[in-house]
Amino acid sequence: MLITRLTVPPPHPRGWPFTIPAVRRLADGIDLTTPVTFLVGENGSGKSTLVEAVADVCGINAEGGKAGTRYASTGEATPLGRALHAEFTTTGLRLIRGPRAKRRAFFFRAETLFNLGQNVSGLPGFWEEDLTGQSHGEGFFTVLDRMVAGPGLYLMDEPEAALSFTSCLRLVALMDRVAREGGQIICATHSPVLASLPGARILELDEDGIHCAGWKDLHLVDHWRRFLETPDAYLRHVLDHGAASPS
Ligand SMILES: Nc1ncnc2c1ncn2[C@@H]1O[C@H](COP(=O)(O)OP(=O)(O)OP(=O)(O)O)[C@@H](O)[C@H]1O
Ligand SMILES: [Mg+2]
Repeated sequence: MLITRLTVPPPHPRGWPFTIPAVRRLADGIDLTTPVTFLVGENGSGKSTLVEAVADVCGINAEGGKAGTRYASTGEATPLGRALHAEFTTTGLRLIRGPRAKRRAFFFRAETLFNLGQNVSGLPGFWEEDLTGQSHGEGFFTVLDRMVAGPGLYLMDEPEAALSFTSCLRLVALMDRVAREGGQIICATHSPVLASLPGARILELDEDGIHCAGWKDLHLVDHWRRFLETPDAYLRHVLDHGAASPS
C-alpha cells in the first residue's frame, strides 16, 4: 500500500466542493485498505473531484499524466487538493514524493487522454505511438500497458470510457496484475465489469456521503442486472410512446 488514508482536516472550507456530501464525509477520513479501490456513484456524486484532488496531493497534473510532469496547466491545485491530507506508507513516500526520477505515479484520465497524448507521445518515459493513429480503445491500451505497471500509484477516471466488454475484462486482468506487483489503484468508474475485480474495495458516493459496499449490492450492478433482464421496465419510464421489448 502506498496511500492508506485520505482526510480533510479542520478547518473545513465553505463553498464548492465542500458542499458535496462525499467530500464532507472526508472530514472523518476514509481508509484505503486494499491495493485497488473503486469509486462508484451517480453523475455528479464527486468521484472525479476526489480523484483529481488525490492527483494534486501526489504532485500529478489534475488533467492526467505522470507525477512530477506538469505538461500543460496553470499548476494550480484544485480546491479539494489544497485541503486534502493523504497518509503515505514509507514506500508510498518514496514512490510518490521521492526524487523525481524514482517517482511512479500516473493519472489515467479518460476525458483528456488524447490531449495528454499530443503533449507527451514519443517523449522518454511515455509511449512511442501516436494515439491519433489508433482507435479510441487501442489508444487507451497503448497508454495503460505502458504506464500502468509495477509498484506505483495509478489513478484512473472512467478508464472504461472507450473500452468494449472484452477490453474491460482485459483491464481487470491488468489491474489484478498491478495489485500483485505492489501497485495501488484508485479508480472512478461506472463499469460493473471493472468493479468486479476480486479483492478490490468499492466506495459508493451518494447524497449521504461515502459507503463501503459489496459488488452485488451496488446500485450500479442492480440497475444493470434488472435492465438486462427486462429492458422495458426501464424504457417505459423514459420513452414517450411506451416501450416494447427490443427484438
Ligand atoms: N469547477 C467546478 N466548480 C463548481 N462545481 C463543480 C466544478 N466541477 C464540478 N463541479 C460540480 O461538482 C459535482 C461533482 O462533480 P464530479 O465531476 O466530481 O462528479 P462525478 O462523480 O465525477 O460525475 P460523473 O460520473 O459525471 O463523472 C457536480 O455537481 C459538478 O457539477
Ligand atoms: Mg467524473
